[in-house]
Amino acid sequence: MGFKVGLLGLGTVGTGVAAILQNPDGRHPLLQMLELHRVGLRSPSKPRSVDLPAECITTDLESIVTDPEIDIVVEVIGGIEPARSLILKAIDRGKHVVTANKAVISRHGDEIFTAANKAGVYVTIEAAVAGGIPVIQPMKQSLGANRIASVMGILNGTTNYILTQMQQSGRSFDDILADAQRLGYAEADPTADVDGLDAGDKIAILASLAFGGRIKLDDVHREGIRAVSASDIAYADKLGFAIKLLAIAKRPDTAPSDAGIPDRLQVRVHATLVPKAHPLASVNDVYNAILIEGEPLGQVMFFGPGAGAGPTASAVVSDIINVAALLKAGLAATNPNTPSVHPLLACSHHSYSQVEPISELVTRFYVRFLTKDHPGVIGKLGTCFGNHQVSLESLVQTGVRDSLAEIVVVTHAVREGDFHTALDEIRTLDAVDSIASLLRVL
Ligand code: HSE
Repeated sequence: MGFKVGLLGLGTVGTGVAAILQNPDGRHPLLQMLELHRVGLRSPSKPRSVDLPAECITTDLESIVTDPEIDIVVEVIGGIEPARSLILKAIDRGKHVVTANKAVISRHGDEIFTAANKAGVYVTIEAAVAGGIPVIQPMKQSLGANRIASVMGILNGTTNYILTQMQQSGRSFDDILADAQRLGYAEADPTADVDGLDAGDKIAILASLAFGGRIKLDDVHREGIRAVSASDIAYADKLGFAIKLLAIAKRPDTAPSDAGIPDRLQVRVHATLVPKAHPLASVNDVYNAILIEGEPLGQVMFFGPGAGAGPTASAVVSDIINVAALLKAGLAATNPNTPSVHPLLACSHHSYSQVEPISELVTRFYVRFLTKDHPGVIGKLGTCFGNHQVSLESLVQTGVRDSLAEIVVVTHAVREGDFHTALDEIRTLDAVDSIASLLRVL
C-alpha cells in the first residue's frame, strides 16, 4: 500500500518538499510509503535544484487536482488565485490537501474548511504560520487542555531582520531594506512584509486556533515598520527596550479567564517596544518565535526558522506524514456518503470571533515630540495628557536638534482612544512642531 502525492508549485518550498520525498532514508518510515506522483508548475524552463522525470511534470495545474490516482495534493504555489480554486477543486474530488498558503487560509478558510469537513477530507496548514516552527499541531493537540490567554509572536522574518540590523548598525529603515532586497532577504515589493500584512494573516490563523472562532482579516489591526526610525531604536535601547514587530492575539484583560469563547478578542500587528528581559526581545534576524500563555501551563515559547526551503518543507512534509498515517490507519474518509474526519486534525470552528476596535485597547505608549525649546512646553504637554486621563511613566528631553527640542514620553497603560484625543489637543499647541513617532509599549 502506498499513497500518491501531487505537488502544486516547484518554487523554493516545492523544491524543498520534492527533495525530502525523493530522499526518505533516515526520516519517518511513513515517507517510504509516499510517491511524488506528479508536479504542476507554471514555468517549466526555470532551472531547479531537484531532478524529476519529465513525465511527472505538467503545466496543467488542474490535471493534478483531478488526477484520480492522487491521494494528497500539496499546494505551495502561494497567492490567492489559482491556489484557492485548485484547493477547492481538490477537496471536491475527495483529495486531502496540505497547504503553506497563509493568504488563502486567512481569507478563505471558512469556505475551504467547510468544504473539507463536508467532503470528509483534511486540509492541513502547519507550514502556513512560522515556516519550520511546529505551532499549528501543538495548538490543535498538545495545548488543548489549556485556556489560552494570549498568543504573541514575531511572525515575519523579513521585518525582524530589518529591525535587528537597524538596531545593530544604527542605519535607517530605507538603507537596510535596500540591502535586504539586494541580498534576496526581502521581496522586490516588500509591502506584505513591511506593512504587517503577512504577520496579520498568520496571527488571524493562530487566533482562530487559540480562541475557537474564525477571524475576519479586516478586523485585524495591521501596522508595519516603515515608520520606525533609527532614532526611535536608539531611544528605545536607552530606555531598556528592543523594537519588534509583534503579532498579538489575546483576551482583553477585562475578560474573565475562565469563560468559554471570549466575547471579544484583541488581534493586532504593530511595532512594539519590548522590554529587553522579555523572551521575544532577543529573537533576532530572520528567526520567528511564538509565546503562548495558557492556564494551567503558563508560558511556552516556540522558536526557529520561519521561512526558507528546508524549514517550510519540513512543516509541509510533517502534514503529509499526518495525513498518510490517517490513510494507513483507515481513519481518512473512504465512504463519501458518511464523510468524517479526525476531530483533532479537522477544523472545528463554525462562527466568527468579535475583535475589539483598536481604540479600546489599553496599552502603554512611547511618543517622540519635536517642540520649540521654550520654557513651559513640558508643563503644557503634561496638562494635555492629564486632561484625558493619560498618566506618564517617564518624560525626558533628550536634546535639541535643528533648533527643536526632542522630548520622549512613555505613558502608563491608557485607553488608546483617550491617548489619541490627548494627542489631538497637543497638536494644537503653538510650541509643538510635530509628533515624530508613536509606538506601543508591551
Ligand atoms: N515573507 C515571510 C517572512 C515568510 O519574511 O517571514 C513567508 O511567510
